[in-house]
Amino acid sequence: MKVVHTIEELRDQLRGQLRVAFVPTMGNLHQAHLSLMKLARQHGDPVVASIFVNRLQFGPNEDFDRYPRTLEQDIEKLERERDVYVLFAPNEREMYPEPQSFQIQPPTDLGGILEGEFRPGFFTGVSTVVLKLFSCVQPSVAVFGKKDYQQLMVVRNMCRQFQLPVNILAHETVRDQDGLALSSRNMYLQPAERAEAPQLYATLQQVQAELAAGSTDLAALEAQARSHLASRGWEVDYIALRRQRDLGIPVDDEIQAGEPLVVLAAAKLGATRLIDNLEICKH
Ligand code: PAJ
Repeated sequence: MKVVHTIEELRDQLRGQLRVAFVPTMGNLHQAHLSLMKLARQHGDPVVASIFVNRLQFGPNEDFDRYPRTLEQDIEKLERERDVYVLFAPNEREMYPEPQSFQIQPPTDLGGILEGEFRPGFFTGVSTVVLKLFSCVQPSVAVFGKKDYQQLMVVRNMCRQFQLPVNILAHETVRDQDGLALSSRNMYLQPAERAEAPQLYATLQQVQAELAAGSTDLAALEAQARSHLASRGWEVDYIALRRQRDLGIPVDDEIQAGEPLVVLAAAKLGATRLIDNLEICKH
């Protein structure tokens, strides 16, 4: 695997390549990231990964400074898996040589809801860095995880509206055996919190089960899920049943007609904020 730190070196490595498959990350790689690289491998050649902790997508009170930076271990993991041909690991000056005052703002009805409501500017930061990384790597395929469901939709929407020639592939959420979605932020959890953390996914599954059993009052299901988590000590930012296609609030007719739904949640356990989601299709 070649490790490059500058855009110029990256372009040298990729000259003439037309089937690049790209996996952007912020590093501190875990099994889910590695699994995204495997999927990339099946859809393009060469596979390029990036590691860049993007300041633009962190709020002033978020964990930018303490976000784990583990480049050496990350390189070892990638070397072991042998899926990635080039790792692009730019520093801040390389990506943002001047203040990034030109930014990409997603539409409010997609980027301003759910995560966007609780993390103002988050999807602007994500869209801007993803567009910038795409312009560096010029991939034909890029892989994103469904764990960050809204991020995946924002990126897809950006590619569609700007007619970027990048095919966005979604990877299923990778979970620990107890159901907790893998995340770099799980390492912040204290042991007791780690034991409680799978309740987030369990709660989403409970919502799914109640829908399958015929419940149609989405607001009641959301409220019930929220109070379940709150009673166990979680601080819930949102728990929301939405349409899969645009994250809009489904109307009754759509629910009756079996519109594909997704239940999305964000909640804090102590100081650690976790997100998760579950797609729900009525058969
Ligand atoms: P990061 O959190 O490092 O995640 C990189 C990619 O891995 C994203 O597409 C994310 O959805 C995916 N991922 C993380 N955990 C996952 C899991 N348990 N199952 C499936 N996929 C998972 O997301 C980002 O970085 C950044 O916002 C980025 C897109 C790199 C822009 O800075």
